[in-house]
Amino acid sequence: MEDKIKRHEFLKSLGLKGGALLALYCTGQSLSSCSADNTVVPANVDLSVDLSNASYSSLSNSGSYVVISNVVIANIGNGNYVAASITCPHENKNAIKYQSGSFYCPEHGASFSTNGTCTNGVTGKTLKIYTVTKNGNVLTIK
Ligand code: FES
Repeated sequence: MEDKIKRHEFLKSLGLKGGALLALYCTGQSLSSCSADNTVVPANVDLSVDLSNASYSSLSNSGSYVVISNVVIANIGNGNYVAASITCPHENKNAIKYQSGSFYCPEHGASFSTNGTCTNGVTGKTLKIYTVTKNGNVLTIK
């Protein structure tokens, strides 16, 4: 609220009034709402991935990943898998990838450990991580 008052007073000091002020406020509003992909990170998912299915054969390689229903599923080696939301918590861009043992976002360079913690200070927010269980060739992601 205090920022808006300061902003309003600043704009008034520039000689802007009425319609011009309203246009600036509306333009500012629409620009900020365009900055995100507006994806809602699903709090809960319920996915089954059959690793013997040819569509997911690349997941058998350590360091590889696939994206299914906005969930990034990565093979982190030694038969272990981790799944994260594709939506970066920094500015809600749908850009999360898996590379060299970390999730990362190419938009502004945020890097996240496999527990979702940002490791390079780009954001204080946590990447959504889902629980993965493996039973035979089937991964269940919740
Ligand atoms: S949106 Fe991912 S680092 Fe900014």
